[in-house]
Amino acid sequence: MGLVHVSHFLIFSFPNISVMEQINAVITGVGGYVPDYILDNEEMSQFVDTSDEWIMERIGVKTRHILRPEQGSGVSYLMTRAVRQLLEKTQADPASVEMIICATTTPDYHFPSTASIVAGNTGLKNAFGFDMEAACAGFLYAMEVAANYIRSGRYKRIIVCGGDHMSSMTNYQDRNTCPIFGDGAACVMMEATTEEMGLLDGYYRVEANFEHLHMAAGGSAKMPSHETVDAREHFVYQEGRTVFKHAVTKMSDAVETIAKRNGLTKENITWLVPHQANVRIESAVARRIGIDEAHVMINIDHMANTSGGTLPLCLWEYEPQLKKGDKLIFTAFGAGFSWGASYMVWGYDGAAEAQKSPAQFYKEGEMSREDWYRLRHSEKSE
Ligand code: ACO
Repeated sequence: MGLVHVSHFLIFSFPNISVMEQINAVITGVGGYVPDYILDNEEMSQFVDTSDEWIMERIGVKTRHILRPEQGSGVSYLMTRAVRQLLEKTQADPASVEMIICATTTPDYHFPSTASIVAGNTGLKNAFGFDMEAACAGFLYAMEVAANYIRSGRYKRIIVCGGDHMSSMTNYQDRNTCPIFGDGAACVMMEATTEEMGLLDGYYRVEANFEHLHMAAGGSAKMPSHETVDAREHFVYQEGRTVFKHAVTKMSDAVETIAKRNGLTKENITWLVPHQANVRIESAVARRIGIDEAHVMINIDHMANTSGGTLPLCLWEYEPQLKKGDKLIFTAFGAGFSWGASYMVWGYDGAAEAQKSPAQFYKEGEMSREDWYRLRHSEKSE
């Protein structure tokens, strides 16, 4: 029997008959990392005119993790640790990974790519890799890109990272944007399967809208200069109300499209995994498709908006609750505008996997900030 690789299918050739098996791309592991430092709303209200009450009511963020220069620098610091955890949990040989895609808006440098730095740090010596920039929709797009490499039949094992060092482009003098963002990264292993599971459908769009959400300078259109630094043009600029409306409408439409195309209803969707931009946006999208909030992954209260990191950080945190066969809809929206939704059937029972190396993050109320630091630093010295 000969085995021939053809786009999307494995063809088994028998003497008089060909049986075609579809190749799908399924997630087989999750790793993540958030930095130690916790910036809470009380501390923030000491340097910008805001309050815990306003931020909780209008955004739903209580605390965010921030990568401080004394701890490390660059998004590669976060992604390297996420990939190390993924390799440890899956016991995958780093040399068997064929590709790494890093979805980020805050790469370490314009070049070389963050993917090359993370691959070097984690021993992916047989992989090629690149960065993908699609703001908060980066990880959603990157999963689709990785899945298509796998569906082609040429690649079997790809790491997809999503994360951002948002504090590197957050203006802590601007109360309209600074409460929203945090730092963090997570990653997934995507592998080939002939089972009917993994990433099964996607709806993605991009549209030019510079005006309402951008970083004005630092790229090739407006190079960095003393003037751009003085004008604080290297930070996120956002017109919140306009972006809010686009985010709700576009994510809801995308989720509805994907649900209809795949016969998904509020009764059979196990998890909605929305981009974590504002808890009011997440609730509005959930309401529009009628899904109960118990089936919506939400961690914005302690993670904030980590841009490319929000979707994989949700998987990292909810992994213990995920079961083989669960039906997930992912949705994201970000600058560009870039947005979409995808449908995935989950590939493994997460409880045992998560136990190998539990997700570690700070959650207000579970321990004091001092205990969190003590825990993190005692672990490092062991
Ligand atoms: N503390 C206190 N008051 C504040 C703060 C603050 N941190 N921020 C704004 N205000 C004030 C404003 O000055 C305004 O006061 P005024 O009425 O006297 O002028 C009032 O609160 C209301 O301001 P809005 O901007 O209308 O507040 P809104 O309820 O819309 O919340 C927010 C703002 C949180 C930014 C919201 O619009 C939002 O979440 N937008 C979408 C974000 C998003 O999805 N981004 C996409 C991804 S990000 C990326 O791609 C990089």
